[in-house]
Amino acid sequence: MKIISVAGARPNFMKIAPIGRAIKKWNNASNGTRVLENVIVHTGQHYDENMSQVFFEDLDIAPPDIYLAVGSGSHGEQTGKIMIEFERACMDIRPDLVLVVGDVNSTIAAALVASKLHIPVAHVEAGLRSFDRRMPEEINRLLTDAISNYLFTTCHEANQNLLKEGIPEENIFLVGDVMIDSLLYHKERAGRYNVLKELQLKGVDDFRGYCLLTLHRPSNVDTRQSLMPIMEAVCEVARYIPVIFPVHPRTANRLKQFTLMKGEGIHFIQPLSYMKFLSLMLKAKFVMTDSGGIQEETTVLDIPCLTLRDTTERPVTLKEGTNILVFNDKAKIIREVQRIMEGSGKKGVCPELWDGKAAERIVRILAGYQKQKI
Ligand code: UD1
Repeated sequence: MKIISVAGARPNFMKIAPIGRAIKKWNNASNGTRVLENVIVHTGQHYDENMSQVFFEDLDIAPPDIYLAVGSGSHGEQTGKIMIEFERACMDIRPDLVLVVGDVNSTIAAALVASKLHIPVAHVEAGLRSFDRRMPEEINRLLTDAISNYLFTTCHEANQNLLKEGIPEENIFLVGDVMIDSLLYHKERAGRYNVLKELQLKGVDDFRGYCLLTLHRPSNVDTRQSLMPIMEAVCEVARYIPVIFPVHPRTANRLKQFTLMKGEGIHFIQPLSYMKFLSLMLKAKFVMTDSGGIQEETTVLDIPCLTLRDTTERPVTLKEGTNILVFNDKAKIIREVQRIMEGSGKKGVCPELWDGKAAERIVRILAGYQKQKI
């Protein structure tokens, strides 16, 4: 059985890595009876060395078999380019299944192409909903799920969302979270890494602690009106504790454009590799973010997470985990920061099946796949 695993943007790489490993493990154990061939296609949506290449090295992913080099563009342009190139790849490779992860433009583009070629689609991280259709990722999630044949979910809420949208129950599989597979697999190694020593940031040490910040959602960074209140709140936070801010390229452009790349106690640095970021996250006092995946990772690590958004597609991290939605509400942010500094930050529990074995469950299900069922 030939599977194409599609990755294109930074948050995809840590999701395909455990699947590749689980496929290898399956093949070793199956003694050649039901071998799965994993063909990695990188769309090139993210292309900077520190947004892509370093993740392949850190996560020990085989180099992509095919690189589509689509690069940046408007949503239509980027999605369209991926579709054109990915269709060619599918015609060449003739896979039995296309596996897509997450909610980026590469996810929907590849799913759409495969579906129209009558190639079954497996969507990993299906069913997550923010119920905010202004988010490009929400459109990508809804549409990818609507045309997928295998919907692998991370939590019960996702199953419920899919059932409400009319997805047949037999196509939905609650398997856990592949992003957490990567986290647990690399946690120990990252814990031994002293990235603070390497970064040499003035006034930042393990003893005093620090806040780790990430920011890149278009709704937060693309206009001055949205970015300014967030940066004002971050400046206020930096009066309590140093803030380390690895800046996404989209955000770097905007911060420069709006002359907001400043603030005492805020350390603006380049985007980090997976291992370096994990190492910083492990020792952070708390995290502020608008990322999806980081809300999950902090929940598993039991580190307080202040999410700079007013919705989340991952409500399980609010209900069971350490996550709190603070959006750009300065008063709320400072209140939560004070609580954390006093040692009474939010505690959580690890959601069911977030145990490092999600990819193995996925591969077992796919290996038992029958063409006639679809
Ligand atoms: C994308 C995903 C988002 C994900 C995020 C993680 C979509 C719709 N969005 O957003 O879900 O959370 O990735 O990073 O797919 N750029 C570079 N170098 C790079 C990559 C991007 O300079 O390696 C620049 C591009 O030129 C562009 C901007 O960053 O101007 C945004 O890139 P884009 O691919 O549109 O999406 P992200 O904002 O990264």
